[in-house]
Amino acid sequence: MDDLVARAPAHKRPSTEKAKTYAEVASEIAAVVEGEPNLIARMATVAALLAAAFDHFFWTGFYLVDQDRPDQLVIGPYQGALGCLRIPFGRGVCGAVAQNRRTEIVADVHAFPGHIACDSRSNSEIVVPVFGPDGALIAVLDVDSTTLGAFDVADADGLEAILAQVFGEQVSDREALS
Ligand code: SME
Repeated sequence: MDDLVARAPAHKRPSTEKAKTYAEVASEIAAVVEGEPNLIARMATVAALLAAAFDHFFWTGFYLVDQDRPDQLVIGPYQGALGCLRIPFGRGVCGAVAQNRRTEIVADVHAFPGHIACDSRSNSEIVVPVFGPDGALIAVLDVDSTTLGAFDVADADGLEAILAQVFGEQVSDREALS
């Protein structure tokens, strides 16, 4: 039985297995970004380590709230095939999450009204809002899979915990220099 679980594809593993992997990646990310206040450096680390940890993560990356055009998301650090550069708030899954500020799990992206198909190979996705230390929305994290229904509440819990840990706490300059 244990052997079967170990050999199951990541998206078919029980939630406890996923939770364990998320906890391990969270520790790795914390170790790498410790003392690094730059948001792009933090986002690049999160995208790279998450994409490496789960083989069903086909596209893993951030869309940032554009400070010059706050009604738009603009592409940030990602792992995967070429992504769309800009997404208006309210459009597609990322735009909906930016507007509603709530995690969205989409089992079949083709059934989602207004879904933006950056890559036709994506079939399901999870998008999680990213908040800064003051509670303001700074970005969304978008993870796509070629498998239908690849994401569940264990992914939402794991990703939300990592994002709160990496972006929700203030990194002081003193810590950055140490
Ligand atoms: N899936 C997104 C668009 C971004 S790409 O898939 C990288 C959406 O509909 O929001």
